[in-house]
Amino acid sequence: MRTVWWEAGTVRLLDQTRLPDEVVVRTCHAWEEVAQAIRELAVRGAPAIGAAAAYALALAAGEERGETLAFLRRAAEGLAATRPTAVNLRWALERMVAAAERAEGEPRSLAAALLREAEAIADEDVRANRAIAEFGAATIAPGERILTYCNTGSLATVEIGTAYGILRRAHEQGKGIEVFACETRPVLQGARLTAWELQRDGIPGTIITDNAAGSLMAQGAVDRVLVGADRVARNGDVANKIGTYTLAVLARAHEVPFVVAAPLSTLDRRAAGGAEIPLEERDPQEVAAIGGRRLVPAGVRVRNIAFDVTPHHLVSAIVTDAGVATPPLERSLAELAAASRARRG
Ligand code: MRU
Repeated sequence: MRTVWWEAGTVRLLDQTRLPDEVVVRTCHAWEEVAQAIRELAVRGAPAIGAAAAYALALAAGEERGETLAFLRRAAEGLAATRPTAVNLRWALERMVAAAERAEGEPRSLAAALLREAEAIADEDVRANRAIAEFGAATIAPGERILTYCNTGSLATVEIGTAYGILRRAHEQGKGIEVFACETRPVLQGARLTAWELQRDGIPGTIITDNAAGSLMAQGAVDRVLVGADRVARNGDVANKIGTYTLAVLARAHEVPFVVAAPLSTLDRRAAGGAEIPLEERDPQEVAAIGGRRLVPAGVRVRNIAFDVTPHHLVSAIVTDAGVATPPLERSLAELAAASRARRG
């Protein structure tokens, strides 16, 4: 299943705000429409928004607005501002602007060059996810009961997912895994999206409330926690969906391995540690109301903190597309990134 793609001069994406009730493809004709889709979480998940933003700049390159490079830089800034935490967004936009700078002076080939770069970013994500799935599945024992959070599947990436891709591969390998997926308040990516993917893929899965995770671990019912990431700092601190940190603390208290899966495009080499990662805060309405019905009395202050940071000392391993990083994570991640750069030349 492809989540975001280019078709007939437009960007198409599976509208995740409509799932699981309806499978609707949204068509974007201008970069601003893609930016709006990212803001609304119609497309979400770190790698998916990186690819969507790349295609949005390819769209922008095809528009006749003069001063193309300056226009593209403004569009890139507008797209980058939609969501601050997932580094894949900025990473993809920087690649696109660099491609535009290389193609400057040949306006007719600029749009084609940007589309090629966007397709390359999307294709690399597909390859990275497949590598993560292989590396990660190799570490899963038969019959493992794995607790996951948010949605890290096809919907969050271009094709098969990161943490979810590992679950899928382990299931395909006949390992007989069982999955617990937390609902993931307030937007319910687990209850709506991961549940939908588990059902489609025939993977045995159970949805639990976010606050049931500790009790399950205390009963010895969880063998591993496996989550994705929106940004990994150089020292291995991991920014991910709000509530991930709570799971990591619980996992440590119950001696359950806490494993993160992310492509190297999620590693932010400019951030030394988690304190340097901007954490998105979203519209309080997402917390105050469910399905259009207000739960919290009007006038009561509500905060909608969308991400948190799990410090590296709580992380057992990070499965990347170049291999599995183990503590000390800073050194291990740097070695994997260097090996990957060397392979690419
Ligand atoms: O707010 P979202 O739904 O975009 O948050 C997504 C997550 O936190 C995922 O865990 C993360 O992007 C990794 S997805 C492969």
